Amino acid sequence: MEILLSEDQIQRRVEELGRQIEADYQEKHLTIVAVLTGSLILLADLIRQIHLPLRVALLQASSYKGATTTGGALILNEAFAPDVAGRDVLLLDDILDTGHTLGTLVRRMGERGALSVKTAVLLRKIGRQQVHLEPDYCGFTIPDRFVVGYGLDYDDDFRHLPHVAVLDETNLPK
Ligand code: XMP
Repeated sequence: MEILLSEDQIQRRVEELGRQIEADYQEKHLTIVAVLTGSLILLADLIRQIHLPLRVALLQASSYKGATTTGGALILNEAFAPDVAGRDVLLLDDILDTGHTLGTLVRRMGERGALSVKTAVLLRKIGRQQVHLEPDYCGFTIPDRFVVGYGLDYDDDFRHLPHVAVLDETNLPK
């Protein structure tokens, strides 16, 4: 697999994002709401770079079902939905693709009484966005290729890779 972003590059950028977030959320009531499962590794690395009191909450959203790499309907699991009333919410996702996931979640956090809602993503794909949304924090802009690693999966494989790689869809494991 072709490595698109090395472990080093990612770590350095996550540190920078952490410093930016830390500066922006002084005196605020930060709750980071991470979108499972793809943002798991980013969450673990990022929160250790933010030296502020903060809460962590999790939501599950999936639009890519099973082995397919084309988008489907958004499935939201709010069974463990965090209490965000009066909190400054930072939604964290692995990748901004069409924008449907974060667009929907920004709305939901508002409905749940969040004081403010911002978004952070590790990756943003060029030329794919359908929902108008500017992420407040973005690690890297990448070409329109299917990527795996650092939390991102193909059919739940490859999440553990420390780097981000382009998946060669013509040469997949059976
Ligand atoms: P939307 O289209 O709602 O999509 O912005 C966000 C979700 O789509 C998944 N996604 C990917 N997952 N490699 C992946 O492993 C990719 O290249 C990719 N593109 C989109 C991902 O779950 C993300 O949260």
